[in-house]
Amino acid sequence: MKLPHSDALVVFGATGDLVFKKIFPALYAMERWGHLKMPVIGVARSDWTLKQFRARAFASVKHQDGFDAAIFAKFQRRLRYISGDYAAPATHGALRKELGKAKHPLHFLAIPPSVFAGVIGGLGQSGCARGARVVIEKPFGRDLPSARSLSATLHRVFDESCVFRIDHYLGKESVQNILVFRFANTFLEPFWNRDYVESVQITMAEKFGVEGRGGFYEESGAIRDVIQNHLLQVVGFLAMEPPTGTNQESIRAEQVKVFRKIRPLGRGDIVRGQFRGYRREDGVARDSKVETFAAARLRIDSPRWKGVPFFIRTGKRLPTTMTEVLVMLKPPALGKLCPGQANYVRFRLSPDVTIAIGARVKRPGEELIGDATELQVVNHPHGVEMGAYERLLGDAMAGDGTLFAGQDGVEASWAVVQPILGAVTPVHIYEPGTWGPPEAEELTTGICDCHDPVWLLPHGKKRKIELMDAQTIRKSSRKIGRGQKRL
Ligand code: BG6
Repeated sequence: MKLPHSDALVVFGATGDLVFKKIFPALYAMERWGHLKMPVIGVARSDWTLKQFRARAFASVKHQDGFDAAIFAKFQRRLRYISGDYAAPATHGALRKELGKAKHPLHFLAIPPSVFAGVIGGLGQSGCARGARVVIEKPFGRDLPSARSLSATLHRVFDESCVFRIDHYLGKESVQNILVFRFANTFLEPFWNRDYVESVQITMAEKFGVEGRGGFYEESGAIRDVIQNHLLQVVGFLAMEPPTGTNQESIRAEQVKVFRKIRPLGRGDIVRGQFRGYRREDGVARDSKVETFAAARLRIDSPRWKGVPFFIRTGKRLPTTMTEVLVMLKPPALGKLCPGQANYVRFRLSPDVTIAIGARVKRPGEELIGDATELQVVNHPHGVEMGAYERLLGDAMAGDGTLFAGQDGVEASWAVVQPILGAVTPVHIYEPGTWGPPEAEELTTGICDCHDPVWLLPHGKKRKIELMDAQTIRKSSRKIGRGQKRL
């Protein structure tokens, strides 16, 4: 069933961090391209005026490249603001009035899960849910039981076809590119399996810490914040079987099959870490056991991947901000030709979009030996693609659910992490600016070298690079890219 285009956007939690960092920039970008054609109604508890709300929007976008005051003026005229308690009938009554003639509002819930039920109930009772759809943000619940109960709460008021679950990784060009690269290239399929792939590593590194989100992070931790959702989505795209089509149902169905084939994580499959200093952040308990780093070893019991380890790793206050996938291939029969690391496929998911194939070519000279080189298939610098939120908000407004998570996938991915949620394993302290606690390397010992993503500098190309500290350079020189130039 094709849903009608939305005619109003309502943002609950409008004064919060997510709206400031992601939603205002996305809406401003839509305004710039002429894609925003509706009022934007912010709802929040803060006792703000519309003027303050507009000032917040301005602060969010004013430093963007090419900021245009005329476009912002147009955007800010769309803004409305309602302050009130999320569950209070008065708030929903005011919203109903503000919606005026709008028949298909899109309600975006950027609010903590504890206030979800009140908002959903209020939307239902006030009539604001009629003809409407709702967008909710990951994490969808805190664990498997709460994910189920959240879904039941939503379904009391909204039909499943009107529920859009945002995992913004699904809206990233680079993540969609994994799918296209895998299924639009015949040459890849013969080696994309347990016969040729030795290991898969996914690293999502962040140089920054929790940045004022200590309270949120205490409730979440790295496993709930990014592993259960963003990183398992990436695993799903890397490991799934070819979908029967490019529509929402067939892609989601294949992804869910992967999640269901991943063995639930045991205590020996995970190493948790916490950066030194985290406990001094605002909103963080002085004896917190919440992880700001997690590394896990996944096993996928499918005919294609049986026996191939998938390592995922994420952390705050690491040496760099970068997300990268490394699919390492088994060494060729004539291993002598390529000492050290052999062939691989590398997907840089952010900040730039790169797909590269690590291959060996003959080193000039008398020796019959292979030197490492990389064939770059695609290399889009940071910032050329449409932002994930811009893409996903546009799709939700248009009623296209292809790039949104489904409830069955959400439940299957909670089932993977459910056994290791909470403080069931020790949390190891690591120094900010390092690659996490040394204990994490034990997961890969004897299987592969831990791949620490760094900026590589292809021959002859000038590229903006991030300077690494000496320790990172020393460490990374032991890793991938031996024989490649880097700064
Ligand atoms: C969010 C997490 O979902 O994703 C943050 O809550 C994380 O902790 C962010 O920093 C990373 O997103 P991106 O698009 O910057 O990789």
